[in-house]
Amino acid sequence: MEGFTLATAFKDLEVIILAAGRGTRMCSSIPKVLHPLAGKPLLQHVIDTAKQLSPTQIHVVVGHGADAVQAALANQKLTFHTQVEQLGTGDAVACALPACKPNTAVLVLFGDVPLIALSTLQALITGAQDNPIMLAARLDNPGGYGRVLRDEKGDFLAVVEQADASETQALINEVNTGVLAAPAEQLVALLNRVENDNAQKEYYLPDVLGLAQQEGTEVAIAVTEDPFEMYGVNDRLQLQTLERALQCRRADALMAAGVAVADRQRIDIRGELDCGVDVEIDINVVFEGRVSLGDGVKIGAHCVLKDVVVASGTDIQPFCHLEGAVVGERCRIGPYARLRPGSILSETARVGNFVETKNTTLGVGSKANHLAYLGDTNIGAQSNIGAGTITCNYDGINKHHTTVGDAVFVGSNSTLVAPIDLSDGAFVAAGSVLTNNVSTKELAVGRARQRNISGWQRPDENKD
Ligand code: UD1
Ligand code: CA
Repeated sequence: MEGFTLATAFKDLEVIILAAGRGTRMCSSIPKVLHPLAGKPLLQHVIDTAKQLSPTQIHVVVGHGADAVQAALANQKLTFHTQVEQLGTGDAVACALPACKPNTAVLVLFGDVPLIALSTLQALITGAQDNPIMLAARLDNPGGYGRVLRDEKGDFLAVVEQADASETQALINEVNTGVLAAPAEQLVALLNRVENDNAQKEYYLPDVLGLAQQEGTEVAIAVTEDPFEMYGVNDRLQLQTLERALQCRRADALMAAGVAVADRQRIDIRGELDCGVDVEIDINVVFEGRVSLGDGVKIGAHCVLKDVVVASGTDIQPFCHLEGAVVGERCRIGPYARLRPGSILSETARVGNFVETKNTTLGVGSKANHLAYLGDTNIGAQSNIGAGTITCNYDGINKHHTTVGDAVFVGSNSTLVAPIDLSDGAFVAAGSVLTNNVSTKELAVGRARQRNISGWQRPDENKD
């Protein structure tokens, strides 16, 4: 038995996320870290990634707009620390560090660097068990970021902020991503020595790395291969640029999995989208919440789908809005249809233009093809709901239910005053206002009888 050692146990992990800054360059009354990227606050992206590292605690340092930030992150098992004055990133970390347990590894993330990858962080933590480690990146345009200074041998010296950099230093294209990890005790000792004698009169967190190097503590530098994950958001143009870059990546992943995306520049996935093969997504479709599309589903241009399940072979034509709906196989929806929460369509059902459904089921092969409102309604199989049919489900105080059986025919422009029940095979004459139930195979005519008056004299023009 030679060279046999037991694996050293990894230190527990504490994550500190900085989110106290004002975000002046956003020119917004909303704190920067709450601005949405792909439908989710910037800070939430960072928190969701941090959670996947299973840390013992996630600390969030808040300051500017603290109440709004805390409210937006309620019920997530986070530990908040308030940085009263925004004296710099070093000061912000110092607000949370005393709450970190000894003998842990501390990972610092920035609330405005939202797309940092889990695998990058895992590698970084592994390197931060005994020494500080920072994540750097090489950028074609390093403007605005802290630059990484190295000596002639290429060994790390320090990070210099843009505001403090000489002209030559400003040419360096290796930058600090802002992500840093270190053993807790080391970080405490180093931070205590950070001063604010710089252009911005701030306590800079990256100064701990220069100090560590000076005292002979080895500083590891990991360089990310993918600058995309380290882009920080400081203004609205950067936010928009990152949003589009993220959406293009999502579109590319869909295409790689067999989805036909009409234009990667014109798709917005602001939640989770699962697709089968040969799904077709035309331009300007917005997906929110959780959306699942079965094989061969077609989504026409300009649709919005939120929390929707669509089974295979269904065709959703342009300009539809679906929310909280479940759509069966081979249905046809739209153009211009609106399915509201609780809409459930069985296979081959059809909902056409200017039809609104809410809390309504349509059975196999049933159709509501034009201009209708169906609310709190259960419709059986193979029924036809004529153009202009309205279910009057609301009496001003309470909602009432409508039941329509199988193979029912509701003529155009009918008004069904709920509660009401149309049994299997019932037939409703066009233009009816129905307040009573209709039994199987009955014809209901609920309209004034037509009178024709012969020899009708048209009124004269008014001579007054
Ligand atoms: C920072 C780094 C820079 C790095 C860049 C990467 C410092 C001094 N500079 O610059 O080296 O290249 O990020 O994106 O760290 N914050 C607080 N309290 C404060 C100040 C900031 O919580 O007192 C938070 C902000 O809300 C933000 C993060 O820290 O989430 C970064 O602050 P920001 O002012 O944007 O730093 P940068 O100038 O971008
Ligand atoms: Ca920043």
